[in-house]
Amino acid sequence: MSDDYTILEGYNSDADLGLGCGLPTQFAKIKKGDVVVDLGSGAGNDCFVARYEVGDTGKVIGIDFTPKMIERARANAEARGFNNVEFREGDIEQMPITSNTANVIVSNCVLNLVPNKDGVFKEIFRVLKPGGHFSISDVVLEGALPEGLRRDAELYAGCVSGAIQKNVYLELIQSNGFENISIQKVKPINIPNDILKNYLNDEEISTFKNGTAGIFSLTVFAQKPLTNRNETCTPGGGCC
Ligand SMILES: C[S@@+](CC[C@H](N)C(=O)[O-])C[C@H]1O[C@@H](n2cnc3c(N)ncnc32)[C@H](O)[C@@H]1O
Repeated sequence: MSDDYTILEGYNSDADLGLGCGLPTQFAKIKKGDVVVDLGSGAGNDCFVARYEVGDTGKVIGIDFTPKMIERARANAEARGFNNVEFREGDIEQMPITSNTANVIVSNCVLNLVPNKDGVFKEIFRVLKPGGHFSISDVVLEGALPEGLRRDAELYAGCVSGAIQKNVYLELIQSNGFENISIQKVKPINIPNDILKNYLNDEEISTFKNGTAGIFSLTVFAQKPLTNRNETCTPGGGCC
């Protein structure tokens, strides 16, 4: 599923475990001096690209709940002498980050693994500064996956079976108050037949391949409004 990161400035091969499904940092409109947060940062792949873009005056924070990933990411940062890239162990459903901190949030192939996606979008909204934005690459579905694929734990870990429908994903973003929502990239993901064979019989594979259901890598952008409407309300002001 992973894209070619070697084209991006700041790329660090030690941090590239081939676990992504897009290039969110390519689309994230990161500026010098920004504070960038990467959700499910793994070994730090997107953090190091973001670090190049924020420069010495910015800051990058990666969050991951797997201690081994945090260890690897920290070792990669230390080896390069970066002191403005930090890795925090924690769950992105309850981010270890103060509200209104980030100019930009990125994430690559992580939200599909989280059961409470609505909770993560709420946390993203909390952590972004007013006017801040996110660019997230993730796996989404269109149509119904065959039962054998949906229930399999190995494919869940491989970022497919935990994915939700694209329209539901976009609705979650909207219902959490984000604006300027735009799809930056969509890429179909083809599961090779030799993998499908582990989960489906020949007839099911053929039905799936000839059907309309599909698995996609989606990169989506959205912005937290500059002003919180509720904050501008005054008693009797009637602005809500
Ligand atoms: C498919 S890997 C992607 C890693 C990285 N974004 C990349 O592209 O190389 C998913 C990562 O998300 C982390 N992860 C999954 N669920 C998480 C959660 N609820 N909170 C924090 N990290 C999580 C995993 O530990 C893993 O490092």
